[in-house]
Amino acid sequence: KKAKMILEKDFKVSEIDERIYGSFIEHLGRAVYGGIYEPGHQLADENGFRKDVIEMVKELGVPLVRYPGGNFVSGYNWEDGVGPREHRPRRLDLAWRTTETNEIGTNEFMQWAKLVNAEVNMAVNLGTRGIDAARNLVEYCNHPSGSYYSDLRISHGVKEPYNIKTWCLGNEMDGPWQIGHKTAEEYGRIACETAKVMKWVDPTIELVACGSSNRSMPTFAEWEATVLDHTYEHVDYISLHQYYGNRDNDIANYLAQSLEMDDFIRSVISIADYIKAKKRSKKTINLSFDEWNIWYHSNEADKLIEPWAIAPPQLEDHYNFEDALLVGCMLITMLKHVDRLKIACLAQLVNVIAPIMTEENGVAWKQTIYYPFMHASKYGRGIALNPIISSPKYDSKDFTDVSYLESTAVYNEEKEELTIFAVNRDLEEALQMECNIRNFDGYQLVEHIVLENENVKQTNAAKKANVAPHSNGNAVLENGIITAQIPKLSWNVIRLA
Ligand code: AHR
Repeated sequence: KKAKMILEKDFKVSEIDERIYGSFIEHLGRAVYGGIYEPGHQLADENGFRKDVIEMVKELGVPLVRYPGGNFVSGYNWEDGVGPREHRPRRLDLAWRTTETNEIGTNEFMQWAKLVNAEVNMAVNLGTRGIDAARNLVEYCNHPSGSYYSDLRISHGVKEPYNIKTWCLGNEMDGPWQIGHKTAEEYGRIACETAKVMKWVDPTIELVACGSSNRSMPTFAEWEATVLDHTYEHVDYISLHQYYGNRDNDIANYLAQSLEMDDFIRSVISIADYIKAKKRSKKTINLSFDEWNIWYHSNEADKLIEPWAIAPPQLEDHYNFEDALLVGCMLITMLKHVDRLKIACLAQLVNVIAPIMTEENGVAWKQTIYYPFMHASKYGRGIALNPIISSPKYDSKDFTDVSYLESTAVYNEEKEELTIFAVNRDLEEALQMECNIRNFDGYQLVEHIVLENENVKQTNAAKKANVAPHSNGNAVLENGIITAQIPKLSWNVIRLA
């Protein structure tokens, strides 16, 4: 099969906001305790943070980490996690039915984020709490000094304010599972009033309003419209969450699920713009895809976990090779929408539906999905291009006209680099790709990275990097045309400079 692509410097989607390579750490399972933080570990620093995990997170190049939840935040008292540790209460976390020790809280997490060179996307509790706790947390984190909460932070040893820029107004408030679940009207009102006071404390912050928990929610679309109707002039982003899974073991259909993600993104843009029109507003609301990933492998195991444990192994999906391909397709999909998609968080980062896993007292290791994410984060900075692609197509159970070639490209003007990301969804055959890069004069091929595996169900494990990329792809560049074989079921990164 053959596919063609044309890349032009001037065919642009937009500049990429690096926050699309964000991720997420929730107080859930072994993400915090036993993940980023394991004081007894031989590689722990003086504060108990695992240095091997820090190195892997830095290699992923995550510029933003959402915290502390997730469902957890809807029952969280942020005050429990600051000040002397010996005074911090143990609480029942009703979201995940565990016991939270509060050993790690805002200040420790901010310290860890600094070590991995990431900003924090802080969520406030709009489940059990509201306006007051939210404005106090902004004051604690961002106000310089001379007020109760800023001076409290200083008394906790943190002189300079954190100036946290991005904040989430609660989490998945449309979901009946959420502590303090709300109707769209109820949430819209509280989000609006909370947004106002948070910005009165610090007008420089940006706010994300909760969109639907996923595209299948019965209230989807109506929820976004109602919430934005209430909050439009006070918030900056509307959130999207979506997880996929190959429950029917139908890989052709599974790999096409990024088309649904594409449709989801387009729909939310339309809803936001409908409210813009309705309000005759000059302001544009952008998108924060602040939870996205694959999540289904661990569902059965999670049912067996005894309640009220401290940091039990929850949501520990072990990702296989086909999952890495879908993650690649999802990354490409997001790159196609960076004119409106400004924030995205791979959910999550360590141990919990994560690219990085840790063994207690043992090694940290990379899951299959680590690689496409790392490649996109590393090479996908600059301007997202809008390629013209022609590829053979297939139909699957839920989708029609699925391109075998899923691809896009990023142009880094400053570094003079061009990177093509490509997935071949074909189960049987390689694609012969021909890519015309006509006005990239003087560019040379740097490398053609390929992630491939004969076994789509192959996973990685501690000290077993079964699925890992190689740089032996066969792309060649001649007279402004790249020709490359894109192996069947593979993730490809073709780099030029
Ligand atoms: O990321 C895991 C959970 O998924 C989050 O806590 C919640 O927001 C979503 O349902």
